[in-house]
Amino acid sequence: MQYQVAFPTASGSRAALLDLVQMLLGLALVVFMYLHALFVASILLGPQVFNALADFFERYYLAQVGGPLLALVFLTHFFMAARRIPFSQQDQKKVWTSTRMLAHRDTWLWTVQVVTAMFILIMGAIHIWVVLTDLPITADKSAARIQTGFWLGFYLLLLPMVEMHVGAGWYRLGIKWGVIKSSARNKAKRAEYYITGFFILLGLITLARFMFVSVS
Ligand code: HEM
Repeated sequence: MQYQVAFPTASGSRAALLDLVQMLLGLALVVFMYLHALFVASILLGPQVFNALADFFERYYLAQVGGPLLALVFLTHFFMAARRIPFSQQDQKKVWTSTRMLAHRDTWLWTVQVVTAMFILIMGAIHIWVVLTDLPITADKSAARIQTGFWLGFYLLLLPMVEMHVGAGWYRLGIKWGVIKSSARNKAKRAEYYITGFFILLGLITLARFMFVSVS
């Protein structure tokens, strides 16, 4: 039997560098999305608290500069991850067949990530555009938006997609980069389910609260 030895090549090290950058951008987005959920949930402490927080972000240009920067990271992350997304019908069929054949939880997670990514790309881009072209952010404006049926439905779909994507994202990164050891896989998976469940519940309570903010 003949063995082939693969030596690191220029294209191999480029791929590794791209992987590292993709991991860092992904991690930054995970942190952003969890913080974003907590900031939006400040409406639970009252519209004044939400407005004060939004005001703080705008006074220090965190919304005006950070927002477009975040949009750039968001799009770059997608285009880098797209290297691995099967776009042709033929490739999609192959992935679907092998995923079902393997029946392996972490392989299913990858499929969850690819499917949710498609929704998030389009819906996230629309959301960022709508919010950033209507600054300043106020509880009044956000509530008025959420109280129109379309946006409530929009967020009810985007919320679980984002939380599943983010949860599966950090779990898979942890496995890939060896932070989560094989022996801790089940424990980490359980933690991921709890954290994802917590943020979906928090998001739902936040949306419900917005429905009761009286719009002036
Ligand atoms: C600069 C970036 C962003 C800003 C300033 C921002 C701001 C906001 C604001 C003000 C709300 C309250 C609802 C509204 O006003 O319409 C909201 C809700 C929401 N945002 Fe963002 N957002 C940003 C990025 C994102 C991204 C990248 C995603 C996901 C792809 C996202 C997902 C959501 C979801 C799911 C809700 C509903 C929240 C809930 O139920 O707690 N946002 N965002």
